[in-house]
Amino acid sequence: MSAPSEVVICADLSDAARKGAELFIRIASRSIARRGLFTAALSGGNTPLRLYSLLSSGRFIGAIDWERAHIFWGDERCVRPESDESNFKGAYVAFIRRLNMPPGNIHRIRGERGEAGAEEYEREIKRFFRLSCGEFPRFDFMLLGIGADGHTASLFPGMDAVKEDKRTAVHVMSDKLKTARITLTPPAINNSSNIVLLASGREKASAVKTAIEGAFKPESSPVQITRSASGDVTWLIDRDAAFELASL
Ligand code: 6PG
Repeated sequence: MSAPSEVVICADLSDAARKGAELFIRIASRSIARRGLFTAALSGGNTPLRLYSLLSSGRFIGAIDWERAHIFWGDERCVRPESDESNFKGAYVAFIRRLNMPPGNIHRIRGERGEAGAEEYEREIKRFFRLSCGEFPRFDFMLLGIGADGHTASLFPGMDAVKEDKRTAVHVMSDKLKTARITLTPPAINNSSNIVLLASGREKASAVKTAIEGAFKPESSPVQITRSASGDVTWLIDRDAAFELASL
């Protein structure tokens, strides 16, 4: 189990979003320079929306060649893409629609297709990353959020998917939320070169403390799976979400 590579305490969500956008562009620039390609898997929810908006702002939009960037998602709700619940829609409205990206670079999870959507997403990832059997994708940038219950992506406490070690993406049902989701699995997340976890708000403080400082119990704190990540793990947390950390 590795400890986080870095825990960055940010003044507030705006500061965390700016640091996250800077890190996104730095990693994208390095990946494109080295391989002519950059792959990112985006998080859903509200916390990353300000980061996404920054990426299409004057300061960042011209920083990389977006035609060399490929956008995936870490998870998606099983809704139509035009639904306000859609993680695709959240990112599309916040920044993707303003970028000069070929449609084939946007790898939407077809949540509306349920289990078939999960299988389709797995096939698309396998094809794109040219994976052999048993291999997992290596995303350059994996952005994750954290729920107050310690979930990340759509890996919720008590889910069998938290222990999935064969598949890349699975269709799950959140008993708590009573909604179906499609999510990347722990090995698909942990094989990333860079994982960035973004957390803001006092309501996340307990989950953040458990995630970073708590005993290893991923069945109740799924975000702890990132302790097994093979690449860099960076937490960007504002003061409110860091409130309960002892190591401050
Ligand atoms: C989702 C996300 C999920 C999110 C957390 C935090 O589909 O909802 O992928 O893992 O990151 O639920 O959500 P907020 O940022 O809205 O608090």
